[in-house]
Amino acid sequence: MIDSHAHIFDESFSLDLENVINNAKNNGVNKIVLVGFSRDTNDLAYQLATKYKGYLYPTCGIHPSEVSDNYLSDLVYLEDFINNHKVYALGECGLDYHYDTSNKDLQLKVFEEQVKLSIKYNLPLIIHSRDAINDTYNILSKYKEARGVMHCYSGSLEMALKFIALGFYISLGGPVTFKNARVPKEVAKGIPLDKLLIETDSPYLAPTPYRGKRNEPAYVKEVLKAISEIRNIDILELEKILENNTIKLFKLED
Ligand code: NI
Repeated sequence: MIDSHAHIFDESFSLDLENVINNAKNNGVNKIVLVGFSRDTNDLAYQLATKYKGYLYPTCGIHPSEVSDNYLSDLVYLEDFINNHKVYALGECGLDYHYDTSNKDLQLKVFEEQVKLSIKYNLPLIIHSRDAINDTYNILSKYKEARGVMHCYSGSLEMALKFIALGFYISLGGPVTFKNARVPKEVAKGIPLDKLLIETDSPYLAPTPYRGKRNEPAYVKEVLKAISEIRNIDILELEKILENNTIKLFKLED
């Protein structure tokens, strides 16, 4: 299995990171995409991935909750970071209208500039979209060369198919395991398997039976298991398909 989205540089792992990584390995996780989202976390992801080369694969981006009036210098910083570090994706970036819509224009601008950067540097995008699915779609559909993944996708099956038509993958995480999560299960059932990824988003969104606890990459197996049941497909066969999808999208070498 590959956990296509984790933040295990988070301070909640500071005491037992070694154990968390060993636990992931012992549970069959053989790669983890380590996702940065701010100046600090891009550094943390890169440093940690250097320590676990060939197991952790770092990315860099500016999350919508990190945008500020300094966005021009942030974008210069980000391009500089890409030029000076081997990263496997641009993101997470995107739009988040859940807590704050007062800075919509700023979010849209910073997101669109990151889409352009991803094309310039031929990097897949890792998209965070919360309560902003239409604006996210409208921006991505302006750029035919944009590609990447809708991380922890929570929208409808209909929208998922539209993102796939643009060239995007759909990544499902913990919520697909929740008993009453009708929509993520519909997405898991309805999208082409060659466009699906799985993730944990550790330390957030732990799957059943760990719901409410700190999430960790080993738990991605619960996401795999849930989808194999929903699709009625052999778990090993599904695992292989999803691994191949992730390796292909992020160009993960050994
Ligand atoms: Ni995340």
